[in-house]
Amino acid sequence: MVFTLSSNITEELLNIIQVDDRDQIIENYTLIGKKLNELFPTGSEPKNLYTAANHLLGRGKMLRPLLILLVNQNLGSKNINKIIKLSMAVELLHTASVIHDDIIDEADYRRGLPSIHKKFGNETAIVTGDLLISMAIKITSDLDPLTIRWVSEAAINMSEGESFEIEYKNQDLNTEMYYNIIKKKTASLIESSVASSALLSGVSNKLIDSFRTYGLNVGLGFQIRDDILDIIGKEQTLGKPVGNDIKLGRHNIVHILTKQTYPESRNLPGQKINNYIINNTTRREFY
Ligand code: IPE
Ligand code: IPE
Ligand code: MG
Ligand code: MG
Repeated sequence: MVFTLSSNITEELLNIIQVDDRDQIIENYTLIGKKLNELFPTGSEPKNLYTAANHLLGRGKMLRPLLILLVNQNLGSKNINKIIKLSMAVELLHTASVIHDDIIDEADYRRGLPSIHKKFGNETAIVTGDLLISMAIKITSDLDPLTIRWVSEAAINMSEGESFEIEYKNQDLNTEMYYNIIKKKTASLIESSVASSALLSGVSNKLIDSFRTYGLNVGLGFQIRDDILDIIGKEQTLGKPVGNDIKLGRHNIVHILTKQTYPESRNLPGQKINNYIINNTTRREFY
């Protein structure tokens, strides 16, 4: 099964954000997608590796590049060449993280397509993730050293966040443990993307810090939204499996708060908790 994703995803995202110059954002956003698609020429050897590298690249929402562009435009649109390189590096790192995450999560679909390990096998998927990380490092070499440091620290945080999640498998988490995981695995890269964009836009340290806080909170909210959608979303719209968190013994924030608030839900085995949540959710307009 192959899902069809909305081709108007950028339009939808931009419609909910106030943008000064929408055309400029769309132009740069499209350029980043194009440059990502040209990074690994089709037909290069080893074929398996480069075909796999192109399979998902530039096919997601590209939320992190979009945020980088929006912050840069908001701060005067300076240094656009470096902003585009930052966006490419971050999107490469993010795509590598989902390729490896899909192996860990045994997820068969991503971005409306078969996941890389499903289509090319685990061995190729692991090396493809490595290739994308290496290319991200190469691209950041042209950036400000502080930007390289922030993005690298985010990549370290992603590995730690994913590892905590593995370590806590099948355990009941409290909200503190949950926030620690999602801060590391998701919010950190969004935080460093936004802070780096502010830095490359040439603003004061105080303003960079404000954008850093904004990025961190957008990142936390983004993962919470992803976790809610894992329970009430539709595979056709998301382009990836739903119900995977509880299937893999991962208690996300919805499971944690449901168990805290409704004692009768505490002993529900495995996936039954998702049915409980769906059946007891009154705001049905959300799904
Ligand atoms: C998926 O990220 C992984 C999470 C951090 C939730 P996105 O929802 O940004 O995935 P793509 O890049 O659009 O596929
Ligand atoms: C993983 O979180 C976030 C990453 C850092 C890759 P999830 O496991 O919830 O992401 P999805 O739902 O597979 O996209
Ligand atoms: Mg996953
Ligand atoms: Mg998820």
